[in-house]
Amino acid sequence: MKLDRIVNTAKSQVLVEEARRYSPGGLHSHIRRELPFGLAFKRAEGAYLWDADGNKYIDYNAAFAATLLGHCHPAVDSKVIESIHRMDLVGLGTNETEIALARKIVQHVPCAEMAAITNTGSEATHHCIRLSRAVTGRMKIIKFQGHYHGWHDYVLMNTLSPADRIGTKHPQSGGMLPAAIDNTTVLKFNDLEAVEKCLRTEEYACVILEPIAHNMGSVKMTDEFAHGLRRLCTETGTILVYDEVISGFRHGLGGYQKIIGITPDLTPLSKAMANGYVTAVMCGKAELMKNLTVGGGTVYFSGTHNAHPIGNVAAVATIEALEDGEVYRHLYALGDHIRAGFQEIANRLGIPMRVVGYGSIFVPLFIDPELGEPLCYDDLMSCDMEKDKAFRLAMVKRGIMLYPLAFRRNCLMAAHTYEDVDLTLEIAEEVLRGLR
Ligand SMILES: Cc1ncc(COP(=O)(O)O)c(C=O)c1O
Repeated sequence: MKLDRIVNTAKSQVLVEEARRYSPGGLHSHIRRELPFGLAFKRAEGAYLWDADGNKYIDYNAAFAATLLGHCHPAVDSKVIESIHRMDLVGLGTNETEIALARKIVQHVPCAEMAAITNTGSEATHHCIRLSRAVTGRMKIIKFQGHYHGWHDYVLMNTLSPADRIGTKHPQSGGMLPAAIDNTTVLKFNDLEAVEKCLRTEEYACVILEPIAHNMGSVKMTDEFAHGLRRLCTETGTILVYDEVISGFRHGLGGYQKIIGITPDLTPLSKAMANGYVTAVMCGKAELMKNLTVGGGTVYFSGTHNAHPIGNVAAVATIEALEDGEVYRHLYALGDHIRAGFQEIANRLGIPMRVVGYGSIFVPLFIDPELGEPLCYDDLMSCDMEKDKAFRLAMVKRGIMLYPLAFRRNCLMAAHTYEDVDLTLEIAEEVLRGLR
């Protein structure tokens, strides 16, 4: 009865065509192109989206993990509205909104002795890497296959690579600077031996990683790797950068670093921190952060829109909404519920699946569960990606927004209810039966 619920997308198609007249592909971010049939959205509220034809979706894309509380959250929006009547962007000196946000970051995030506010996750990772190069005087960096750190030349390599590009340099844009590609070494996640071999050369400025790799099916670090990496970075004078653009504030007030009890040297943050409003932070040890030009050092840190009051106010309001822990209790319990629900359905239907994830993130991997928990990108190559995509696509057509890309993370928001999740599981069972 719920099959192919999204049958009418005529109004979306009109808007999609119009968008294409004015913008390449009618889209404004590479990743948005995966939606199979063009969709235009008219409304977002709480856990739901409505497209131009009035079709309603339960949203698990959550603006690529940015909306943690739910869309158009009243506590955040009201603070933003109040603030824009008072002050917009001044672009000079300082103000209370940016002090309040930096104070919150320093209060909550273990590595954050100081915080500098910018706009996007990509800017924050760029600044962390340039700062690392400046303070170490070294040019090489390490990233891991499957991890994503933004669109700039330093890191736009080896994210979702096809199997035949694993182990080779896989730059993902035309026009990238060869020197940037040459100086980025890509290693296998959780391979401590490979990291040690590189770091012992003492040629590396930093290691940047997602401490829980949500851009490749939520792969976790082993304890041995996590502690070994921290130790090796300290021993070789290499800066350890935990990119918590997704995990920061989504998993807890202190990010994933607080949960695992390992403190990196620098951390970029964005997304959930402001419930989807535009802002990002680079934070870390004061002795490093003071090297930014704003602190009297040599590492240029600038941006007309940096620390825009709207982002600052939204972030502080979001963090305040998280401080009593209630949102996290709900998200962790609901996360366990949906992961267990998917696993139970797959087991009962005899579909090879391992449901992974953490806290508010769930990823049903179409993989033989006997193979054990995936530890690196190579391990994901045995997933049935066609089936994964077909499953997600069928879910979207039934009003469940699971972004239709294999092993893409799905995100719960505080606004999701047990009823939403149970309906999602019911529809998932129908779809999985059909795919069997
Ligand atoms: C872990 C991680 N780092 C950095 C970024 C880049 O952030 P932005 O898209 O805001 O530039 C992303 C975006 O998805 C991300 O997932």
